Amino acid sequence: MIKFDLKNLGSQNLEGNIGAYIEAVKTRKQGFYKIVDDKKTAKAVLKFAKTARKKYKHFVLLGIGGSSLGPICLEQSFKHLFKEKKLIVLDNIDPVVLAETEEVIDYKTTLFLVVTKSGTTPETMSQYFYFRNKINKKKLDPKKHFVFITDPEKGLLRKIANEEKIPSFEIPENVGGRFSVLTPVGLLPAALLDIKIEKILSGAKKMRDQFLSKNTKTNLPFQLAKIQYDLAKKGKSINVMIPYAQKLSRMADWYRQLLAESIGKKFNLEQEIVNVGITPVNALGVTDQHSQLQLYNEGPNDKLFIFIEVEKLKPILKIPKAHKGNKDLDYLDKNITFNQLLQIEKDATASALTKNNRPNFTIKIDEINEENIGALFMLFEGATAFLGEMFNINTFDQPGVELSKKLTKEALLKL
Ligand code: PA5
Repeated sequence: MIKFDLKNLGSQNLEGNIGAYIEAVKTRKQGFYKIVDDKKTAKAVLKFAKTARKKYKHFVLLGIGGSSLGPICLEQSFKHLFKEKKLIVLDNIDPVVLAETEEVIDYKTTLFLVVTKSGTTPETMSQYFYFRNKINKKKLDPKKHFVFITDPEKGLLRKIANEEKIPSFEIPENVGGRFSVLTPVGLLPAALLDIKIEKILSGAKKMRDQFLSKNTKTNLPFQLAKIQYDLAKKGKSINVMIPYAQKLSRMADWYRQLLAESIGKKFNLEQEIVNVGITPVNALGVTDQHSQLQLYNEGPNDKLFIFIEVEKLKPILKIPKAHKGNKDLDYLDKNITFNQLLQIEKDATASALTKNNRPNFTIKIDEINEENIGALFMLFEGATAFLGEMFNINTFDQPGVELSKKLTKEALLKL
């Protein structure tokens, strides 16, 4: 269950020509909101994962951006933070991290997930070359140690998968990288970690139905986009996402890419230069109360704060008495829980921002479960699609990223 608490926003107009926005999104021919109906892929992912969970000790995911941030978020949301990692996500080519990975894996019991929509991303492909070379040298069968997640037709990985019969899954042609978490990009790593992907999809599906409904009172993706757009127009063009749940810290990382790459654009749909964008910033309650909050309360008033609150954080842990007679810390001697303290600190932070005229609101979920995480993914994807229409830009391309990829390739070819 997801709901918005908008009391700190003041009078915010949540109405608008929602029907026109829904129709406009549909004309973009994007698949991100349709993939939740794809039961066949989910079934194939579950079947593959069931066998793989028994066969391998480590899963190493090679991928970057939209190909890694969803899996990282899912692992953080549902798996133990400190026990040995079964899923290692390599979204960087720093050689130190590659070397450290090799120190903990045994190639014989490792499955590499190579995730790249384009099949041309230099970071991911260089990692693949590295580990493929090792697998070849060790005379292990690549079919047993790699699974590719890539475009159904295009790119080198698809070609290798076809030629060498390496197991593979498809990222539908009409689903872009940062919108792909509900395809095998997020579903396969999640299923390998025994996370219930059917529930993620069913939660996302419920939110998708809201996203396509013309009722502004219940369409949360529309409401979110409208708040963001109206406030951006009033100079609040930085959005700070603050989950008050450490398990959701990587949701803010995933969202940062979605918002930045989708809405930061030079041209509008008429090809006029507009240079629009909303700058996403991540924070984590309570940690960043002691790093960023001073700026947020007293610095430039150019931000919208989006809190995420979990109503029933589990377990409930009491703060016990440990010393008698410490007057300075009497306020902790109230027989309260960490859960209450977290909530009180969140409310205090939101009140302080409100007192300083800093717009903020809260997305509330009842608990961290698969349905809610799936719904959050769809909430943010749907809102981003609406936001792009409001800004009149192409939400789904990323020419700024492509340019840097192109310049990297040119520099490499000159060597
Ligand atoms: O959203 C996007 O399309 C990008 O951010 C990609 O996810 C990122 O560049 C990685 O691309 P690929 O999946 O093709 O390797």
